[in-house]
Amino acid sequence: MLTGTRVFPIDQVRRRFPALQQAGRFLFFDNAAGAQIPGTVLQAVTDHLLLRNVQRGAPYRHSREVDAMIARARESVAAFVNARGADEIAFGLNATSFIRAISLAVGQTLAARPEVIVSELDHEANVATWLALERFGARIVWWRVTSDHECARLDPAALEPLLNERTRLVACTVASNATGSLVNVADVARRAHAVGAEVFLDAVHYAPHGPIDVRAFDCDYLVCSGYKVFAPHMGFACCRREAINRLPTFREEFIPDVTPDKLEAGTYVYENVAGMEAAVAYLEDLGRGFVNEGARLDTVTHAAAPASRTPTIRAGMNAIAEYERALSQALLETVRKIPGVTVHGITDPTRLAERVPTLCFSVEGAAPSAVAEALAARDIGVRSGHMYSPRLVARLGRMPGGVVRASLVHYNTIEEIEQFGVVLEEVVRRLNPDGGDRG
Ligand SMILES: Cc1ncc(COP(=O)(O)O)c(C=O)c1O
Repeated sequence: MLTGTRVFPIDQVRRRFPALQQAGRFLFFDNAAGAQIPGTVLQAVTDHLLLRNVQRGAPYRHSREVDAMIARARESVAAFVNARGADEIAFGLNATSFIRAISLAVGQTLAARPEVIVSELDHEANVATWLALERFGARIVWWRVTSDHECARLDPAALEPLLNERTRLVACTVASNATGSLVNVADVARRAHAVGAEVFLDAVHYAPHGPIDVRAFDCDYLVCSGYKVFAPHMGFACCRREAINRLPTFREEFIPDVTPDKLEAGTYVYENVAGMEAAVAYLEDLGRGFVNEGARLDTVTHAAAPASRTPTIRAGMNAIAEYERALSQALLETVRKIPGVTVHGITDPTRLAERVPTLCFSVEGAAPSAVAEALAARDIGVRSGHMYSPRLVARLGRMPGGVVRASLVHYNTIEEIEQFGVVLEEVVRRLNPDGGDRG
């Protein structure tokens, strides 16, 4: 539980990230494409490579240590997402390959439920993988974003007419990697389960911004990428045991056909799994400053059961979410007051709880790529284009050029936003000297 009184320790946070310490005046505003890592994560990766870079499953010490590290990492990630058990966690290359592996298995179980619902808000990883099932007889049903144009949200009520006894699964994101808007995924699950359909969540963009709770989300499958959540490049999935164990996933014949082996064909990158474990420990550490004394006593060791670590991790993620609402507000105010700039997505300052500080915008009379390049030349890292969500960006009326995206996380600061505002205003003026004043 949050004490609600503690100020977010931004200076301490920034000191924990070596890349920020070495960045000089560079602003990391492209975190949706990958975040920086704490020093402890780097240390965990290094330790693995230096001390135990061997295959697991053998009786010698180093191999046993790898087995133990993977078991610990599974417990840690289970606590991070509030899984029902560590066996529900699978490690792998990235989120996309998990979506593909699970969708290929789902595609073999369509039978009387051939309909798969995909959304217009999603990253293409959680769309194209499902569209590929059409060749196995799937019928794709589109869940469109709201037509309040600039907001373009996913409204769970709009799912209702799409759901029926033929719906096999609803695939949707928890947060848009383009506009930053959140989806009420518990409401999605309630509606989907009412007709006997399953729910597949893409938590990649959401993960660094707030607590993941697979029990509260009530999802059947959830995928995530370590490199968006302060760990190295790797992915993980959390699947409801009963759901995944029913699927015909691919594994070698002698590998057990149940969790956690169910989705882990081949060898993954162990050092990055060690890094993911350390990333969870970092978030838990942050949470220790925000839990009340009773909860703190439960969470002193990393060896504690997942359930007892979850409240501390959640306290850390809630503190991050609260701090990030201040970042969203400052970023919105800063960008919206620049003449000629239009922000897409939720801009209402009373609705900050419905978004994360991922902001996409357009500059009148300037190509998004020109804006991103001009910012890069001035030491600001942002991105332009369709953000792998071309359907959404088309609905915003911004294809083919796309939008500019600034995506912040909890190590960014209000001062950085102010700096960004000054530079962006100058860039906009240079690129579009005739741009009108919106007043
Ligand atoms: C929302 C979202 N989903 C999925 C992905 C793909 O993740 P991965 O690179 O781990 O496959 C991304 C990557 O940017 C993303 O932002």
